[in-house]
Amino acid sequence: MLFRFLFKPREPQFALDGEIRLRRLGHSDAAIFCVHIHELHYEDFRDRFNGLVSDEWLDKYIDRSLDNAIVIGAFIGDHLVAVAELHAGGYLAEGEGESAFSVASDWRRKGLGTILLKALLKAATENDISTIIVETGPQNHAMKALARKFGAKMRFTGDQSVGRINVAEGLRLAGRRSVIKSLPALATSLAATPGGAQPAI
Ligand SMILES: CC(C)(COP(=O)(O)OP(=O)(O)OC[C@H]1O[C@@H](n2cnc3c(N)ncnc32)[C@H](O)[C@@H]1OP(=O)(O)O)[C@@H](O)C(=O)NCCC(=O)NCCS
Repeated sequence: MLFRFLFKPREPQFALDGEIRLRRLGHSDAAIFCVHIHELHYEDFRDRFNGLVSDEWLDKYIDRSLDNAIVIGAFIGDHLVAVAELHAGGYLAEGEGESAFSVASDWRRKGLGTILLKALLKAATENDISTIIVETGPQNHAMKALARKFGAKMRFTGDQSVGRINVAEGLRLAGRRSVIKSLPALATSLAATPGGAQPAI
């Protein structure tokens, strides 16, 4: 089934006034991860997956990510409002990780992407990843701005905009902007994917 996400009323949120909790997502979070993705509006869904994908493809993608990648969720109350992923291995060289982000459409431009990228930088250092790759469509100004904030130079390659964040430099820039030490410990070892839900922090 396609297009489950196409026609949703917009409910713009005004501020991040509640407490944001970050935690590593595990396999038992597959359902809320899926709901989160389906809460994205059409353009955001397209930007996230570089096009449209079927529900079946998405279910498999979510399972694979939760099993093999570091997936960090940001919650406001019980609501999963944003997710960041750090994938390693496969075609990636040693020391490289590839990132992916999704911030609920009504919660964009409030700093959630920035908070999650800082969490990914921290997770990267804990897993000997020195470069985070960002790949997105050339039209995705939000993602390009987020990556540039942490030192990526976005370049047009093929039909994609690709950038590399040097993790040490990203952490330095993150530290300049705010107190990165305030990020919680997230148990982000790539080797030990959580089987169940982790305690919220
Ligand atoms: C890309 C995305 C993760 C950014 O998340 P976000 O929570 O809106 O980002 P932030 O609020 O932390 O903003 C980060 C920076 O980007 C800038 N920015 C955000 N949206 C922007 C836009 N549409 N145009 C230009 N700049 C933008 C912000 O001003 C901020 O810079 P600043 O701190 O210097 O002001 C989010 O828009 C999203 O989920 N998009 C849909 C999915 C997607 O495209 N994923 C990326 C491909 S995997």
